[in-house]
Order: sequence, then C-alpha cells, then structure tokens
Amino acid sequence: MPGAIYAEGLVKTFGDVKALDGVDLDVPEGTVLGLLGPNGAGKTTTVRVLTTLLQPDSGRATVAGIDVLKHPNEVRRAIGLSGQFAAVDEYLTGRENLQMVGQLYQMKAKEAKARAGELLDKFNLADAADRPAKTYSGGMRRRLDLAAALVVSPPVMFMDEPTTGLDPRNRQQLWEVIQELVAGGTTLLLTTQYLEEADHLAHDICVVDHGRVIERGTADQLKARTGGERVEVVVHQHEEIEPARAVLAGFGKGEVAVAEHTRKLTVPVTGGAKLLAEVIRELDNRGVEIDDIGLRRPTLDDVFISLTGHVAEQKEEEEAEKEEAK
Ligand SMILES: Nc1ncnc2c1ncn2[C@@H]1O[C@H](COP(=O)(O)OP(=O)(O)OP(=O)(O)O)[C@@H](O)[C@H]1O
Ligand SMILES: [Mg+2]
Repeated sequence: MPGAIYAEGLVKTFGDVKALDGVDLDVPEGTVLGLLGPNGAGKTTTVRVLTTLLQPDSGRATVAGIDVLKHPNEVRRAIGLSGQFAAVDEYLTGRENLQMVGQLYQMKAKEAKARAGELLDKFNLADAADRPAKTYSGGMRRRLDLAAALVVSPPVMFMDEPTTGLDPRNRQQLWEVIQELVAGGTTLLLTTQYLEEADHLAHDICVVDHGRVIERGTADQLKARTGGERVEVVVHQHEEIEPARAVLAGFGKGEVAVAEHTRKLTVPVTGGAKLLAEVIRELDNRGVEIDDIGLRRPTLDDVFISLTGHVAEQKEEEEAEKEEAK
C-alpha cells in the first residue's frame, strides 16, 4: 500500500527548465521525510505539486490516499502547509491571523480562540499577539506562519524550510513541536538546508538534484554509503592550505574539501587513529603548523557535498565534452 504521501514520475517544466524530472516518493504514515537538495533542485516545486498548488506535466501523486490531480479540494482538507515564504496577513494581529485560519477550517469561534492562544504560547508570540503582523520581525513572521499551519492538526503536513531564519532557541522549540506532532501520528514532508535538522527529525531522507531523487535512505545509511571517517585539519595560516592539501591527498580515499575562510581541510580516510598519527608526522615534516586536527564520522553535510558535488562535476565534464565536440 502506498504511504501517506506518494508520488510517481512527477515531471514539471518551466520553459527550458526541467524543475522536476521524474520524482518518486513514498512516505509511510506517521514518519518524517526530509527532502534535501541544493538551491533550485526542485524541492519547493515538489511541495507545490503535492499540495495541489501546481499541476505537474505528468506523473501521479496521492496524499492521505487521495489523488492530488483528481481531487485537489479533498487533498487540501487533509493537509497543512507552511511555505518557504510566510503567508500571513500583514494588517491582522498574530492572534487574528490564527483565529481566521481556524474559522476558515470551520472551527467554532471559541475553539479557534483557544487554539490560537495555545499556539501563540508555544511559538513564543504571546507578548506580540495583539500587534499587527507587519510589526513582526522576520523570525516572528516565520513562527506565525508555522503556527498558522498547525491550527488544525492535519494528518499530513508539508513544511518548506520551516526553520530558515529562526534563531537557535526557536529552532530547537520548533523541532520539539514537530516531534510532538509526529508522535501524535502526523506524516510530515520537510525540506531543509540544515542537514543537522534532517539528521535530527527525519526518518528517511531523499536527496534531490536537477529535479531527480539521486539518493535515499536513513541518515545513517547515507553516512555509511559516503564511507569511512574524515580527517579534519585546521592549518594555522592561509599559506599552509596548499601544502596541507598535498599531504592529505596522499593519505585520503577521496577528494580533499577545503574551506578557505576557516582554513579547514577535510578528507575521507580509512585507517583510524594510526593514520591520524602518520598525517600529523607528515604535516610536521613539511613544516605545516596546525591549530586543530581530528578524526570524525561523516556528517550529512559530507553526504550532501559528495553527492551533489559529484553531480555538478559530471555536468561540468559533460559540458566540457560538448565544448570539445564543437
Ligand atoms: N514559476 C516558475 N517559473 C519558472 N521557473 C521556475 C518556477 N518555479 C520554479 N522554477 C525553476 O525550477 C527549478 C526548481 O525550483 P524550486 O523552487 O523547486 O527549487 P528549490 O529546490 O526549492 O530551491 P531553493 O533551495 O532555492 O528553495 C529552479 O530552476 C527554478 O528557477
Ligand atoms: Mg525552495
């Protein structure tokens, strides 16, 4: 049986841009799917198709068992959506915004009022509740938008970059709200640029790029596929990046990633602590002074860079070949 969110072969083109190039998804009920991908990968487009805001060119999808293309109105009743850009009414207060949503969903006035009060507390908006939303800061608007998506507790929720622009404390609180929701049986599709967030919240992860799912699995599975540990070195001076890169390239099992600004170099390795000692000796032999060095397990960031970096390289190669063919 297909899951609470199911998509098969979604294609959507805008002019020359293939925003979706055959997206397949299957999210079991009561779980969280994290949709990751670089800017322009097709995440928002996927969410828009699944929430009936956009018609795909081809493919099919069901949400809560309802066909998205055939019965969009029924789908809308079964879902909650928090978009990448906040959709609050500027002139209404925070409280009025939330009450209005409740009334749109046919809640009784008293019930809508109680729910609004509860959410204003939960999202730290109680103090600003009776000010027009146009006086809110960016993070406050975002929280109001999220609260609006939670006025009714829909069986299926979509959140497009829910925590972008939130400070760490508010992000942490939203994570708790999300975990409560999911514990209560809600199915959630979440897009995020914070891989730590996907690691923390998502049962399964799909990495999308160029409108396609290029990898899927649990966070642990993806990390395991990226392979081995990482040696991470911070060199003392900018000039030492190049010699350090050469040393790491000699020991590494993959490409050396360099963050110029922080003078940090990272390379996948096998061989553990013994290898680390050898790396330190070799850096010392070459006169590279280090501020920090360590061995760590791969993070989702490593997964993301290795996957999407790889795709970009392939594209570059293809383009270089095309140039040569001319
Ligand atoms: N209405 C539109 N008209 C034209 N092109 C569009 C439209 N919507 C999306 N696109 C294009 O489709 C591609 C996918 O866009 P989408 O918004 O789905 O990306 P995204 O993964 O959400 O990116 P981001 O991380 O920046 O939010 C992009 O190349 C974008 O420019
Ligand atoms: Mg987007």
